[in-house]
Amino acid sequence: MSEGRIIEGVYVGWDNIRECFSLDPAVSHLNHGSFGAVPIGVQRAQQRLRDEMEANPLRFFTQGLVDRIAHTRRHLAGFLGADPDGSALVGNTTTGVAVVLQSVDLKAGDEVLSTDHGYGAVSLAIQRECRRTGAVSRVLPIPLAATDEQIVQSIRAGLRPGRTRLLVVDQLTSATAKLFPTAAIVGVAREHGVPVLVDAAHAPGMLSTPVAGIGADFWVGNLHKWAYAPRGTALLTVAPQWRDRIEPLVVSWEQESGFPARLEWQATLDYTPWLAAPAGLFTMRSLGVDRVRAHNAALAAYGQRVVGDALGVAPADLPDPGGPGVALRLIPLPAGTGTTIDAARALQARIGERLAAEVAVMSWNGRGWLRLTGQVYNAADEYERLGARLPALLAQR
Ligand SMILES: Cc1ncc(COP(=O)(O)O)c(C=O)c1O
Repeated sequence: MSEGRIIEGVYVGWDNIRECFSLDPAVSHLNHGSFGAVPIGVQRAQQRLRDEMEANPLRFFTQGLVDRIAHTRRHLAGFLGADPDGSALVGNTTTGVAVVLQSVDLKAGDEVLSTDHGYGAVSLAIQRECRRTGAVSRVLPIPLAATDEQIVQSIRAGLRPGRTRLLVVDQLTSATAKLFPTAAIVGVAREHGVPVLVDAAHAPGMLSTPVAGIGADFWVGNLHKWAYAPRGTALLTVAPQWRDRIEPLVVSWEQESGFPARLEWQATLDYTPWLAAPAGLFTMRSLGVDRVRAHNAALAAYGQRVVGDALGVAPADLPDPGGPGVALRLIPLPAGTGTTIDAARALQARIGERLAAEVAVMSWNGRGWLRLTGQVYNAADEYERLGARLPALLAQR
């Protein structure tokens, strides 16, 4: 893994790739999944755009910005296997979810179906939209070890045609690091006439062309997690039959232009994250997209094994993401540890402070889990150090 690569014209080898990020070298950054990390070359690309904006704000906003945004969207959509004319840039997955929820015209008695693997803030958004409209939120339990077939069966059995107005599923779950058989789920929902929103927050940069072949009514994913884009960059794709009905959260000057410009132009905002996002893809391509993905997934799996072993977890009890390429891995914590959101957050902070390791601690279905990630800037010894020190910290309580 020491072969050199070019990033924004600078030759680097994998061995010093960490220097291409601003990350604090005193800390092991083992939670890329929550907020990503922006390579310095991408930060610089964004800064150049900010310099241009500040040199002449009026010109920046009024001459060609809508077209530059459209150009960026085409670039990002191509990378994801999405239809560029059927996609819109949005600030983040949470925003994309909110846009969809308010556009599907929920009514009293309708139901929004989701699973117990869904992201917490997305569940809150569903609950609020249901309160506002009189619809009902129903959450389907899916066992962590469920096979693809079992997941599809559960969802098929859970749909209530005529009542279920929207199904919300994750492509790759956050709390449980599990790949869902999204295309098959969408197929089943379509048979029953139920529209599907795919929360693909982690998919861009982690899964190969994650939109292609899914066929969802709505799909939204973050470029700012695994595709090295500046924060505030996500893509929402919308099936043709919905494009005239989808409404932005904020009405602004492009409202009459229809989809996607009406979603993308959100008044005076900093649009430089979007315009710099192709530099993130360039970084990934320079390193080798498949090579980055394979490296990240292999490192996360190694970390799971090492830390799992340190905590006395048998390999068979380490959850498998259910497919290749996933750079998020779970390790069960000892019984009674991190079982509530508050306890999980407190433990995560304690690991950060005492062990100089940033990790995700998740509580899911009454059990605490450690979630580790792998990235190009990580090395095997970071997981080994965590494994060596974590048992003593957990024993302190
Ligand atoms: C599955 C899932 N959905 C939604 C989100 C929210 O993403 P954002 O904060 O960028 O809106 C996340 C963030 O981690 C996530 O993991």
